[in-house]
Amino acid sequence: MTEVKKIAVIAGDGIGPEVVNEAIKVMKKTEELFGLRFEFEEGLFGGIAIDEKGTPLPADTLDMCKRADAVLLGAVGGPKWDNNSKELRPETGLLGIRKELGLFSNIRPAVVFDCLMEASTLKPEVLEGTDLIVVRELTGGIYFGEKFRRQGEAGEEAVDTCVYNVTEVERIVRQAFEVAMTRSKRLASVDKANVLETSRLWRETVNRIAPEYPEVELEHVLVDNCAMQLLRRPSSFDVIVTENMFGDILSDEAAMLTGSIGMLSSASLGEGSYGLYEPVHGSAPDIAGKGIANPIATILSVALMYRLTFGYHEAADRIEQAVKQVLDAGHRTGDIAVDPSKAIGTTEMGDLIIAAM
Ligand code: NAI
Ligand code: MG
Repeated sequence: MTEVKKIAVIAGDGIGPEVVNEAIKVMKKTEELFGLRFEFEEGLFGGIAIDEKGTPLPADTLDMCKRADAVLLGAVGGPKWDNNSKELRPETGLLGIRKELGLFSNIRPAVVFDCLMEASTLKPEVLEGTDLIVVRELTGGIYFGEKFRRQGEAGEEAVDTCVYNVTEVERIVRQAFEVAMTRSKRLASVDKANVLETSRLWRETVNRIAPEYPEVELEHVLVDNCAMQLLRRPSSFDVIVTENMFGDILSDEAAMLTGSIGMLSSASLGEGSYGLYEPVHGSAPDIAGKGIANPIATILSVALMYRLTFGYHEAADRIEQAVKQVLDAGHRTGDIAVDPSKAIGTTEMGDLIIAAM
């Protein structure tokens, strides 16, 4: 029998538990089909953890994640906690867990499914063949820099600082080159080197590492241009690597190429094979508890976990094929449905995918 893998499950808030439930069903199906073995342990995280433990990232949840081989996360947040102080905000838990687990890169595939092109706002001829990955730096940059308010000459001022050191840039850039090597060997490094010093360090570092990967075709793209090119010629991108804030924005933009945020998986990786896997979307408070959320983003995150952390490629293929098959057969949750009256629910979608596996 295969070695037992420990999975830390932090379902979180809103639709988090609903979509995670379907993903776990899929994982259990792969145990049956491929002889894989998982041990699931659940922990509180996000808003629910604030309510029950007074902190978005309780110490026992963090320990559980550290003991695990991989983490499956739903989503956190909601209006209930929006006006809380910083320490009592679910998002603080997200930033914290990434930092504590040493997860320095976020990998987001954006794949356009042919049968879903109708759900996108872009023309099919623009979208055709789009299959890209955004590799985003996750623990540095302006989100983690010093922030403060001060009294300036013209009144109150707010300061956010953006800091990157060369080690942080090197490790993410190297990982992106590695990802590019497993795909069609094209890497676009995105920065704002015409204005930002951190971007100039970024670009110098990319250029220094590039000769180690002579097979990879490298281009430097300014972030504003990248935002445009993603809409104009998305299929020309393969792997995009960029810093934290640019990556946050560009990966959401790339998300929209695929028609729905309910389809997008993600991985956050550190050194080695350890990873945290989660859908790109948030807790969707507007549809939480209704049983209509699309579970595909979370299910595809499991496929990503199988590939990047466990090397279970056959099982990953099976999951991805089953998703495609169910979509090709015309089944849709509300977010991707052309005719919302025919939309199916979260559990139904999960069950259909499992049946197709
Ligand atoms: P969101 O992703 O939760 O929702 C945006 C829109 O997409 C909503 O209309 C929602 O109904 C829809 N949507 C999202 N996922 C869906 C799915 N699986 N199936 C069908 N429709 C789906 O983003 P929003 O509204 O900006 O944020 C809501 C809350 O989630 C906030 O508290 C925010 O801070 C939090 N959030 C958490 C994230 C995380 O846990 N990683 C990421 C983004 C937001
Ligand atoms: Mg975002």
